[in-house]
Amino acid sequence: MYSYLVKLKKTNFTGNSAFFMLKIGNIELDMPFFQAPLSGYTDAAMRQIARQYGAPLTFTGVMLAKNILNERAFRKGIFHPAAGESPVGVQMLGEDPAIMARAAKAFGSIGYDIIDINIACPAPKVLRRGRGGALLKEPGVAIEIISAVRDAVDCPVTIKIRTGFGSDDGTRENFHQICEHAANTNIDAIVVHGRTVKGYYRGKADWSIIADVKKRHPNVTVIGSGDIFDAQTALDRLSMDGIDGVLIARGAIGNPWIFSDIRDMLNGKTPTPPSLHEQGETILRHFELVSDMHNDYKGVRYFRKFAANYCHRHPQRKKAMLAIMACTSRKQMTETIRLWFKLDREGAYV
Ligand SMILES: Cc1cc2nc3c(=O)[nH]c(=O)nc-3n(C[C@H](O)[C@H](O)[C@H](O)COP(=O)(O)O)c2cc1C
Repeated sequence: MYSYLVKLKKTNFTGNSAFFMLKIGNIELDMPFFQAPLSGYTDAAMRQIARQYGAPLTFTGVMLAKNILNERAFRKGIFHPAAGESPVGVQMLGEDPAIMARAAKAFGSIGYDIIDINIACPAPKVLRRGRGGALLKEPGVAIEIISAVRDAVDCPVTIKIRTGFGSDDGTRENFHQICEHAANTNIDAIVVHGRTVKGYYRGKADWSIIADVKKRHPNVTVIGSGDIFDAQTALDRLSMDGIDGVLIARGAIGNPWIFSDIRDMLNGKTPTPPSLHEQGETILRHFELVSDMHNDYKGVRYFRKFAANYCHRHPQRKKAMLAIMACTSRKQMTETIRLWFKLDREGAYV
């Protein structure tokens, strides 16, 4: 399937947003960026907040393919997209082509719009089982998985891949081989994180390798990932030749405004930073969504990692963070957010 993005150079980033459309198979996004899969973060709550601030597409964190094939697990809400949530992609992890194909069908049947194959995860327990980033050492298996999943479903299929296993172990060739197969198999987008598996999250992502994928396969949609923490960096990356779209990953944790900022800048507008009051409303909304999914005890503890990131913009960041981290009940968390983020004073910045 031919996908395209009409992209203007940085100097022309003013004007008609229709120019920035990104197509992934039959899914048309009005903007060339989306929320990355983030295990432990991109649950239904974070995805809803991201969408509210203008992410045109969101992804689940990675899910083990074989789990969805268990009948009891299949019925569990945790595997399903939220009611009415679309477009939303699911990311699958596995090493067995037949299981990955069956899981893709199952995920498609419960409402996911895009199936993404993980060839990237660097977690040791995942690598030990030959999954995720380990597939960069076994390109034959990765290729079989891609073909099996492509044949199993009609919806768009994408791959998320790192640039090799290590940087000097010959696996860069495997990376290119897998990308070539994806391009020849009508995979709807190749999403490249510009680091190797061994590189984990260290150093800077290498965007020249990402752009090179497009040079080699001009007809495939290439999405880049790595180190996008603000809207200007997103625009800089989008202005590179060979980059059709970008993933917003760590940059969106506790910072959904990154999506509205990128939208504004692509439309030629200067983004306005959110007031403390607006931040507080969003944090509270996010916390309420989380609280609806967990009991009080778990919800408060689970939300702390989001709250820590939400505090980055606070003028008294450390104090606000300490106050929020000390909360142990839903009521206390709600009151503390209300207090520190001035929910009684609309428009407050300090
Ligand atoms: C906490 C965390 C969880 C992640 N979970 C996933 C995941 O489930 N699937 C995946 O493909 N990538 C995952 N990633 C990688 C990101 O999607 C992204 O490619 C990477 O963080 C680079 O982008 P960044 O530098 O802008 O954060 C994760 C990264 C982090 C930090």
